[in-house]
Amino acid sequence: MQRIGVMTSGGDAPGMNAAVRAVTRQALNLEMEVMGISRGYSGLIKGEITELTDKDVSGRINRGGTFLFTARSEKFKTAVGQEEAISQLKRFGIEGLVVIGGDGSLQGARELEKGGVPTVGVPASIDNDLPGTDYSIGFDTAVNTVVEAVDKIRDTATSHERVFVVETMGRNNGLLTLESGLAVGAEAILIPEIDFDIKEVCQIVKQGYESGKSHNLILVAEGIQDCCLDQPDKKDEHYSAAFQIGDMISQNTGYEVRIIVLGHVQRGGAPSAIDRVTASRMGAEAVKVLISGESGVMIGISRDELIAVDYDVILEKEKKIDTSLYELAKILG
Ligand code: ADP
Ligand code: F6P
Repeated sequence: MQRIGVMTSGGDAPGMNAAVRAVTRQALNLEMEVMGISRGYSGLIKGEITELTDKDVSGRINRGGTFLFTARSEKFKTAVGQEEAISQLKRFGIEGLVVIGGDGSLQGARELEKGGVPTVGVPASIDNDLPGTDYSIGFDTAVNTVVEAVDKIRDTATSHERVFVVETMGRNNGLLTLESGLAVGAEAILIPEIDFDIKEVCQIVKQGYESGKSHNLILVAEGIQDCCLDQPDKKDEHYSAAFQIGDMISQNTGYEVRIIVLGHVQRGGAPSAIDRVTASRMGAEAVKVLISGESGVMIGISRDELIAVDYDVILEKEKKIDTSLYELAKILG
């Protein structure tokens, strides 16, 4: 293999730049050329492809976002889009591709693989929802962002003795919410994977105040809106999960409630040291695996060791949450 490509795709995650840097520098070290594909599959279809040099990735390791830009492409999901993408790869002489992104992006990589393009995936998503790896790039930074924000919210919550309902990201899962909730000592954590009874949540709030607490922090995953809230008429982005839960708490308890939707703040910022190290290790390994002739795999981390996991194994499964963490958060909160 003499020339490989690298792209970032789907939702951006802090540490993507560090991963692109690692792919580029490892490939150059192994005397290969690297082509950077801008704007994910959308840019690939359009041929937005330029060579990456050592200098292009300098000063990137500490930056959030992705300097290659990212995008979502409906066209790429079609056979026509995939054929166009493959012909662009041929046109630019790209013999193998590293795709850095979440589960959707790796499903796309699997389609390219089926079309004869060797691909290796690198998991990057603040949701950390890819099975086959303990961590996805960006998760650690996002947890730290939530913790920093909630620590600040706690100050004002305590001063006014208020209930705060804080909504965190997580399209279909509650991993970010659960780990952040444990880290801030939330009084209750609501995630799509675990059924909850709003009456019980109200009871927790009441008991909290009765036992002398000066605030109540409830962390809510955005994904509970689709699975757990029985208010189809109220399903819209301006009345998201946190607002619905907040209304129910104030109606049932009479306490003063404030709502915070943390939103895209959670996707930005300088990557944490853990995300930089993980991205560097995974990106470099992806290149090694690709040139060894193996492909159709995602580089994961299990018990701090790098592993290569078949796309079919990860993409057919759902990542399970650790229910013992949930139970622990309940006891400690
Ligand atoms: P993420 O990678 O963060 O999960 P998305 O789910 O939005 O983000 O996926 C990113 C892109 O990957 C999509 O816009 C689409 O181009 C491609 N993709 C997602 N699912 C598939 C699929 N089943 N087949 C082909 N391409 C897909
Ligand atoms: O998958 C990452 C994620 O940040 C989810 O947590 C969230 O639901 C979604 O992306 C938001 O995507 P968009 O970029 O379309 O706002």
